[in-house]
Amino acid sequence: MEELKQAVVDFKRKLHERGHIVALAGNVSARIPDTDHILVTPSQLAIERLTAADVVTITVDGDFVDGARPPSSEARVHAAIYRARADVGAVVHGHSPYATALAILGRKIEPIMDEFLPYVGGTVEVAPFGMSGSPALIEGTVEALGPRAAVLLRQHGQIAVGKNLEKAFQ
Ligand code: 13P
Repeated sequence: MEELKQAVVDFKRKLHERGHIVALAGNVSARIPDTDHILVTPSQLAIERLTAADVVTITVDGDFVDGARPPSSEARVHAAIYRARADVGAVVHGHSPYATALAILGRKIEPIMDEFLPYVGGTVEVAPFGMSGSPALIEGTVEALGPRAAVLLRQHGQIAVGKNLEKAFQ
């Protein structure tokens, strides 16, 4: 469990290093294998201060289990994705400049490159706008994600999923 908490922290750090998020933005989660629990980054903690001890445990229903800090404001979106997709073991959310530009324009990304289909599974759709953590955002995101590996969030950023943190980050 400590190892998975550290991996959640490491992948949030990678999102920063690659410029997919800045300052306090973004969140990362991973399903604890063979349980209905999820590890998720805490809300609004600077990456320089984030350690494995800050990672919060919630259930796939979005209920708090354990942690010294409040979970990400998007924890319920992560939880809803795990409920809808048994194949998903990790979720990463960022605001990369390109994805955010397309999300603001409301432009989906068609599978225009050869590796798009194996990596993403089809078109990256745009989920309708909803305030952070709102039911509209949660339901719209799960629907627009469908069975694929990525979705744009209108006026916001992107979410990517995978069977583990490596795949979701990729
Ligand atoms: P949290 O710090 O609550 O995870 O929120 C960051 C974010 O990117 C919201 O979209």
